[in-house]
Amino acid sequence: MPVPTPEPAPDVHPAWLPPEAFRAVGSRHTLVAGDGKLVDTVVGEVERACAGHGGTVRRATDEPGARPADLVLALIPALPEADRRPGDAPDATAASGADLAAVHAAHVDLAAVRAAHVDLAGALGAEGFALARHGQVTVVLADAPAGLLYGLFEVVRLGDTAFGPECPVRVHRPALSRRMLDHWDNVDEHPVMGQVERGYAGGSIFWRDGRPRRDRARVRAYARLLAACGVNAVAVNNVNVHATEARLLTDRLDDVAEIADDLRPYGIRVHLSVTFAAPVVLAGLATADPLDEAVRTWWAETTRRVYARIPDFGGYVVKADSEGQPGPFSYGRDHADGANLLAEALAPYGGVVHWRAFVYNHRQDWRDRSTDRARAAFDHFAPLDGRFRDNVFVQVKHGPMDFQVREPVSPVIAAMPGTRLAVEFQVTQEYTGQQRHVCYLAPWWSEVLRYRPWGEGGRSVADVAADGGDLVAVSNVGDDRFWTGHPLAQANLYAFGRLAWDPALAPEAVLDEWIDLTFDPARSADPEMLRRTLHEVMDDSWRTYERYTAPLGVGFMVRPGHHYGPDVDGYEYTPWGTYHFADRDGVGVDRTRATGTGFTGQYPPPWSQVYESLDRCPDELLLFFHHVPYDHVLHSGSTVIQHIYDTHFAGLAEVIEMSRRWESLAGLVDPAVHARVSERLAEQLRCAQEWCDQINAYFHRKSGVPDVRGRPLH
Ligand code: GCU
Repeated sequence: MPVPTPEPAPDVHPAWLPPEAFRAVGSRHTLVAGDGKLVDTVVGEVERACAGHGGTVRRATDEPGARPADLVLALIPALPEADRRPGDAPDATAASGADLAAVHAAHVDLAAVRAAHVDLAGALGAEGFALARHGQVTVVLADAPAGLLYGLFEVVRLGDTAFGPECPVRVHRPALSRRMLDHWDNVDEHPVMGQVERGYAGGSIFWRDGRPRRDRARVRAYARLLAACGVNAVAVNNVNVHATEARLLTDRLDDVAEIADDLRPYGIRVHLSVTFAAPVVLAGLATADPLDEAVRTWWAETTRRVYARIPDFGGYVVKADSEGQPGPFSYGRDHADGANLLAEALAPYGGVVHWRAFVYNHRQDWRDRSTDRARAAFDHFAPLDGRFRDNVFVQVKHGPMDFQVREPVSPVIAAMPGTRLAVEFQVTQEYTGQQRHVCYLAPWWSEVLRYRPWGEGGRSVADVAADGGDLVAVSNVGDDRFWTGHPLAQANLYAFGRLAWDPALAPEAVLDEWIDLTFDPARSADPEMLRRTLHEVMDDSWRTYERYTAPLGVGFMVRPGHHYGPDVDGYEYTPWGTYHFADRDGVGVDRTRATGTGFTGQYPPPWSQVYESLDRCPDELLLFFHHVPYDHVLHSGSTVIQHIYDTHFAGLAEVIEMSRRWESLAGLVDPAVHARVSERLAEQLRCAQEWCDQINAYFHRKSGVPDVRGRPLH
């Protein structure tokens, strides 16, 4: 039975899957060979596309129709063997007679297709697929149903190109086997953090006021969008697990099962954030000590019940001993003890633990210059390398601090060769404009993924993650009609999935895909201008954001609490530990081994030397690693103070230009999208002006150094 495609409320924006994106597939004749739930989803997708665009779809097991197929989507095991040609009588072990009949109808010899790709059988894996052309027919082959689903979405992305001589024939396999989104969604609306912690797109699509939201069509539509960009796992609640959310593990498990049912047809497994104190808060045990026998039994039994209800459950996400969350430290145990406790409970079912490395002292004394928050994850976790069970993924934020607009790559990523690592990104724009500012983050993530911790010739961050680890990101989605508040922030969600599937993709190419799917430029009055303008607005928007906010890698300078807008000294004298040390002579954090906190020593060579050296440290990270005088000359030739002035004026000017360009798209894009983005750009401009004025005024007042160009500094 084909799975019907979800139909969310009509005002919900279709994001990158509008009906027009299916024109190429839906106007052709498709044959699907194979069985399985996800194959049913594929058939449902093609059926819906055909209903809108006039094509047809048949299953090989149906009565064969007369139409020759343009597209064959086939599980390799469902294809006829090469030694039985079309017309031969089927035998008991072979493909069905209907399969063979379909061969004629497809205009392609499926046995020959199978024979031509005999080397692929079994090599495509659980999610891979091959795209090929045989005569006039485009063929997608997969070993397993998920591969067909991803293959279909690749054909959708390619559009008409998939059906012509230019069709890029190749094998696709995801670089990372788990591509996961963490929702920081609360079940109860939190008095401070709201329904979604760090959410900038309305309420949660899963929860409202303590109950499941039950907009199941919306959740299914979300699953569909995620599958189309390659995401295959979702954690459905906040890493900060409060009282109600803790119960999702036990008496509220049905709520989780319902979400799992909605995500499953698109190949997405559900994970749950759990509290380490669960045995105490849910079962009244006296302790949550990971080495206590009763605690182990409780986790084993609780996990057994979870799998009895949700057999394909993915596993647990845990934030422990971090920002007030309970953890093994309370019992004198370490994080390996804690993670292994849960891993042991999950192992019999193939489940995994994502154990977050975001552990630091948030009650530090700002007077104590030896404590450095950047060091914390490495100091806690590197010594534990080799002690984690095989189904533990230590989940590391990509930078040592907290998703700032610019940070070095976390040294933890190079420090745990004996541990599976999940590298964590933040799609939700907590520190990058909160979905009020245009900030296309793929260039940033791509830099991180390509970074080579051991230097040129060594492995990249993407290689480390791909080697038994995975990629995780905090979702930016809410119940907003555009999903992400800012319609252009949809591109970040799309890009995360695509980069997790293939970290080598160029950010501009990913943006091209997103633009073509979302905006259908080919049908607009001026396709070239539409594409070009969207690139002009978005390609460099992350660097623009960097220019008008905290300079040269120093980070933060945001308003404490909500983290929006400038507040240079907001965290300077707080227990959270994010300081810039600006005085009348200079600015920056000395993290050298020679005179500072020693953080540079957490990197392997060559970076331990590069970052240590004032001469070799890259400009964009200078103030992260060094405290320098304002007249220090950067590699760019500018002084630090002049760089601050210049980049802030430049960033502001770029936002003005961005707004002007966006206005020129009126009439070329959906008016509702245009209006929403225009409204957000007005706020971005206001906020960028505020950043520019405050940062420049602050450093001018501290340093007394005038702008060589004589611009107003307030
Ligand atoms: C940031 C964010 C918090 C979040 C935390 C985390 O500090 O501001 O809201 O809980 O990251 O990643 O756990």
